[in-house]
Amino acid sequence: MTDHTLIESKTLDYYEELPDNKERIFNLLQSYSKIPVDKIEDHLRDIRDRAWKVFPYGCIGRWLFLDCVITSSPEYPRILKRLEAGEVLLDAGCAFGYVLRQLAADGSPASNLIGTDLQQGFIDLGYELFKDRDSFSARFIAGDLLKPEDPNLDSIDGKVDIIHAAALFHLFDWDDQVTLGSRLVKFFKPDANAMLVGRQVGTLYPTKRGTQKDQDISGWYRHNLETWQQLWDEIGDKTGTQWRVRGTLQEMQSRTTGNDLGRASLNFVIAKV
Ligand SMILES: C[S@@+](CC[C@H](N)C(=O)[O-])C[C@H]1O[C@@H](n2cnc3c(N)ncnc32)[C@H](O)[C@@H]1O
Repeated sequence: MTDHTLIESKTLDYYEELPDNKERIFNLLQSYSKIPVDKIEDHLRDIRDRAWKVFPYGCIGRWLFLDCVITSSPEYPRILKRLEAGEVLLDAGCAFGYVLRQLAADGSPASNLIGTDLQQGFIDLGYELFKDRDSFSARFIAGDLLKPEDPNLDSIDGKVDIIHAAALFHLFDWDDQVTLGSRLVKFFKPDANAMLVGRQVGTLYPTKRGTQKDQDISGWYRHNLETWQQLWDEIGDKTGTQWRVRGTLQEMQSRTTGNDLGRASLNFVIAKV
């Protein structure tokens, strides 16, 4: 049934049609969640609309939460091996925890997987999306990654080897990104072969440092590979660590880019030096 409040709240960020690249999520929902294929589209629409009411992120309205980009990272096979060998992965800003279910379906022990998100509502919807509340043993923690003093997150300090962060850093300005990165660094085991992998919206034309609030259309700071390394240098200085950024930056076009010149997809792997 149509929810008129929802329809009225729709913006350019709310796409009616499911994306073309839905094969992976359909496979997972069939094989892992045992949802009949003819029920999957309605199920996805129902969860998406309820999530939109929790918070209307573009990644929800535009179905980007169905992208599981980590699986196409050159690091993915190595990540799976490391998790199978007992290492621990944290998905920071995990929303529904799709990445964690995909990792589990691909062989990672669920007990080595952790998700954290500001919104408990998204974590709960993840259990509904994947129909695994009673069977998925990964740990989920609701908490605020921008509040270093948030006690919910302390329990995983020093316990993590790999962090996945997708569509997270780009939500914030430079200073908040430094706070976020510094918080993530605390999650790593002191002797970890620490690695951060993910993706976000980037740009071919980053704004001059310090002026982003005036210049960037959203108030978010978007990076190219150079400014992304500079940010991680600053996080390193703050945390007494050193990081090397690698990645790709690919210009993208979408219905919402409009005159958002230089908008690009930034995929990255960051390693502790
Ligand atoms: C754009 S969504 C991306 C979700 C998911 N990683 C993906 O790629 O589909 C950003 C996520 O970050 C979470 N988030 C935003 N601010 C946060 C914060 N301060 N602490 C923890 N999570 C936060 C949001 O609740 C949301 O689930």
